[in-house]
Amino acid sequence: MVIVAAGSGQRLGHGIPKARVLCGGLTLLERSLRSVLASGVALEIAVVIPAGDDVLRSVAESLSGAVPVRVVAGGASRAGSVRAGIAALSADAPVILVHDAARALTPPDVFKRVVSRLAAGADAVIPVVPVADTVKTVRGGRVEGTPDRNGLRAVQTPQGFTARLLREAHAGTGAGDPLITDDAMLIEATGTPVVTVEGDPAAFKVTTPLDLMLAETLVQGAGT
Ligand code: C5P
Repeated sequence: MVIVAAGSGQRLGHGIPKARVLCGGLTLLERSLRSVLASGVALEIAVVIPAGDDVLRSVAESLSGAVPVRVVAGGASRAGSVRAGIAALSADAPVILVHDAARALTPPDVFKRVVSRLAAGADAVIPVVPVADTVKTVRGGRVEGTPDRNGLRAVQTPQGFTARLLREAHAGTGAGDPLITDDAMLIEATGTPVVTVEGDPAAFKVTTPLDLMLAETLVQGAGT
């Protein structure tokens, strides 16, 4: 399991890395790590943090136990951070899940669904949810088109892959493309089928102050 937590959190505007922002008294990284551990699916975890971030390092290391947690420094892009995480995992791990620390309230069942689908023979699995809004492609302030909403899904993490496939995809030249926003995009480019499982609305990515307010409310409601 790789948890990427090396983003700057600029859009959240707290002036600290997003994974260090508190939600109900715990950092977003701690909440993510706790839900991974609660799912019981991880044999080892690589947590990717901003270089030199001692706060996040100690958060991650404090949760290392029966499931070892290794901490490594991230890259300039999400894909670079994922690569650093993959490199920190044992070479013999058969499958790898990649999870955004920013999806701090992802229910443990989502991890289990991804792993079950991998165990059933899929090589690449992503959790998805329906899209509520009508989505348009726009260029220069002008609408180009409206894709059929029934065929659209919003994509979450954890995304799961057979380890060889993910390592090869990240070793390829396409992995440096700044337009790569998730790991599945790299696999789609190889022609290997990427299959979907049901995500969960609670697995939303904490990106804006509004998202953080929602996360705080959910945590308060659950009393956790
Ligand atoms: O920027 P974005 O919202 O796509 O980030 C998704 C996840 O990737 C976050 O958990 C963030 O911490 C992580 N990330 C990273 N290294 C980067 C950029 C983003 O680990 N350079």
